[in-house]
Amino acid sequence: MSTLFTHIKELYQTRTETPMPLRGKAMDELPSIKNAYLWVEDGLIKDYGPMTDFQPHAAEEVYDCSHQIILPGYVDSHTHLVFAATREKEFEDRIHGLTYEEIAARGGGILNSATALRAMDEDELFEQAQERLEQLIAMGTTALEIKSGYGLDTESELKMLRVASRLREKGTTKGHRIPIKTTFLGAHAIPKAFETDREAYLQQIIQEMIPAIAKDQLADYIDVFCEKNYFSVTEMLRILEAGSAYGMKAKVHVNQFNAIGAIEAAVKAGAVSVDHLEVMSESDYHSLAGSNTIATALPSCSFFLGLDYAPVKQMMERDIAVALASDFNPGSTPSGNLNFVFSLACIKMGLTPQQAFNALTINAAHALEMGAELGSISKGKRANLLMLNQRESLAAIPYHFGQSIIDRVMVDGVFTD
Ligand code: NIG
Ligand code: FE
Repeated sequence: MSTLFTHIKELYQTRTETPMPLRGKAMDELPSIKNAYLWVEDGLIKDYGPMTDFQPHAAEEVYDCSHQIILPGYVDSHTHLVFAATREKEFEDRIHGLTYEEIAARGGGILNSATALRAMDEDELFEQAQERLEQLIAMGTTALEIKSGYGLDTESELKMLRVASRLREKGTTKGHRIPIKTTFLGAHAIPKAFETDREAYLQQIIQEMIPAIAKDQLADYIDVFCEKNYFSVTEMLRILEAGSAYGMKAKVHVNQFNAIGAIEAAVKAGAVSVDHLEVMSESDYHSLAGSNTIATALPSCSFFLGLDYAPVKQMMERDIAVALASDFNPGSTPSGNLNFVFSLACIKMGLTPQQAFNALTINAAHALEMGAELGSISKGKRANLLMLNQRESLAAIPYHFGQSIIDRVMVDGVFTD
């Protein structure tokens, strides 16, 4: 199957080399070609360039794109896409004055989601997650990470990860399959039954869950919610070490409500990314600067919970590699719309559209260790592309906040509509 796009009004994020995430000043630049061509063959980007260099050749489909912008698809490097039920009641409780942390302390929050997830059968969980996946793809997400963490017992954590793996294999109802990485987040909260014996739960994670998950090859990464009233830095390190013995690299929830030294520890443990970062101390910046760990900000979570936004501009000033993701989950971020994340990054965090788009594509791809195959228009990368009709520039996306103006999405060289 080959597709040729000619006279593309503007082709964005064209890069020959993408071995490392972008940092500092490099985030300001978004290379693009006006009046471009793009040739897709067998699901991959075969060639691209300015029309002045175009050599005509046969293709099964040819599109004149004089009124279209083409971009690489978004990569969502942090989601909790598999869940059983929404939590509107807690949303109302927060409007009435309770905080996210107070709701959790009353047994709501993550434990509430765990009760619902344990009760739901695997096929139904899959069908619900598949429906969400389809909605996300239509809004431009063309690769994602999915975490467990609402099972909190061995069988239910396995169930969540099996659902995520099945989504990777089967894709949408139409069979469109986007790259999916999976993350084991057994250390998301201490289950009720272990309230008075947290050590027993840690033992269950380390001795039972991690080996069982590794045996079935169900997780690429391991995650811990390292936060006051959840898991301490010491506990996080024990869990990361146990995961590492089975080849699971770290991607962790840190600094959402408190700076407790989790970043320094995670960076030392070789974390691929540290995510959230709403609350940053001076030493946290110091630990991240000069490291290979990617700082992933989740602005939709800040929007929904009314938290501060992660200070991404300060991070970029210190040459820290920054990515943006959705955090889609039923408690803190019931939206996986990366177009809205894009708007928040510009409006609330002060990023330029170019910086935000780099954080949502090439740097996000690196946050999933997929920088070699996703995140830019580069020869040999997957043809996971977005098309916009009749728009002036990339800035139209964050400008139209709360909407998706993505007209067409291509996955592995095939349009999804
Ligand atoms: O990333 N902070 C921890 N985990 C999720 C929220 C989980 C939930 O409330 O269900 C997050 O915000
Ligand atoms: Fe999260």
